[in-house]
Amino acid sequence: MSRTLTVIVPCYNERANVAPMVAALGSALDGIDWEVVFVDDDSPDGTAAAVRALAKDDPRVRCIRRIGRRGLSSAVIEGALSASGAYVAVIDGDMQHDETRLPPMLAAVQGGADMAVGSRHVAGGDAAGLASPLRVWLSETGIKLAQAVTHTGITDPMSGFFLLRRDLFEQLAARLSGQGFKILLDLIMASPRRLNVAEIPYKFRPRQAGESKLDVLVLAQFAGMLLDKALRGTVPLRFISFALVGGFGVLVNILVLQLAMMAGAGFGTAQTIGTIIAMVANFELNNQLTYRAQRLKGARAWRGLVLFLAVCSLGAYANIGIAKALYAENGHGLFSGAAGAAVGVVWNYAVSATLVWRVR
Ligand code: GDD
Ligand code: MN
Repeated sequence: MSRTLTVIVPCYNERANVAPMVAALGSALDGIDWEVVFVDDDSPDGTAAAVRALAKDDPRVRCIRRIGRRGLSSAVIEGALSASGAYVAVIDGDMQHDETRLPPMLAAVQGGADMAVGSRHVAGGDAAGLASPLRVWLSETGIKLAQAVTHTGITDPMSGFFLLRRDLFEQLAARLSGQGFKILLDLIMASPRRLNVAEIPYKFRPRQAGESKLDVLVLAQFAGMLLDKALRGTVPLRFISFALVGGFGVLVNILVLQLAMMAGAGFGTAQTIGTIIAMVANFELNNQLTYRAQRLKGARAWRGLVLFLAVCSLGAYANIGIAKALYAENGHGLFSGAAGAAVGVVWNYAVSATLVWRVR
């Protein structure tokens, strides 16, 4: 007999939710031949061990434990590629999604839909489990953005709860960006043809154990993914993020310069303070945003900051040198300044990527 359904559960620090999840799947999927694959990014709370404790007695339970990597989308992709079922479902590992909706989702896809998506926003659905007004706003803004860019009418395109045929997933897999949290959107955008999506309402439950890993930065990451699709990958997303952070740094620099001069500092001192503060702010933003996947922490963050300051100082030196030389040649101030700045940002990007954040 061949396996019908593989349930993929991405999880990070969800130890307390593992056993309840397997039990809930057991009762919801009664009568269906299923397996569950937990994809854990080496959670410090011992999530993988909790899965293994169940797996040793229950062949339907498996764990993929990834070391040195983080990311919801990439976890889902790896889980789905390891599936043996004819259908693959993705569900959060914190019991916020309603597993009793899986059978109707499966029925919808067996009945001809390309994909079934659990939705909080169709009649009968409910987003009550969203913790704060900020989360609600983020979620709504994201939905509008996603609908506009992808031309889909899906009411809950940010959903992490969906089901599709495994062979369709495999077809789309090579085209997925794998970045960030929005695997469903990634799949929809990867498809060369419009997918026929069935929306199944469900009630988003409040979290019982553990804490949410998604925050404000998720929206920024998500905007980045949409931009990347729009540019068709011609400019590295990290570079765009790095350049935007750099632009923000210029504003910080100017602001601090003004404040320091108002406080009585001379121009040279004020500009030095402004530049240093801007570089520190840029380091922090790049560490949180551009290089979120390999964020530096603790002592390594301090070491990274010092390196970053050194790299950027050299970048500034090159910037000024080139701008001066060009200006001497053609006397065009704006052009020379912009060319110098462009060389500076490319230098800062290339060198800090390899030296500070060690991107392979
Ligand atoms: N392997 C892995 N790696 N799993 C992760 C990671 C990671 O880096 N980050 C989060 N997860 C797991 C969590 O453990 C959880 O099982 C699931 O992914 C969702 O993460 P939560 O932190 O619980 O997300 P949420 O409840 O705030 O977000 C919900 O709403 C989003 C849309 O607003 C979820 O339903 C998401 O799927 C949905 O996209
Ligand atoms: Mn959750």
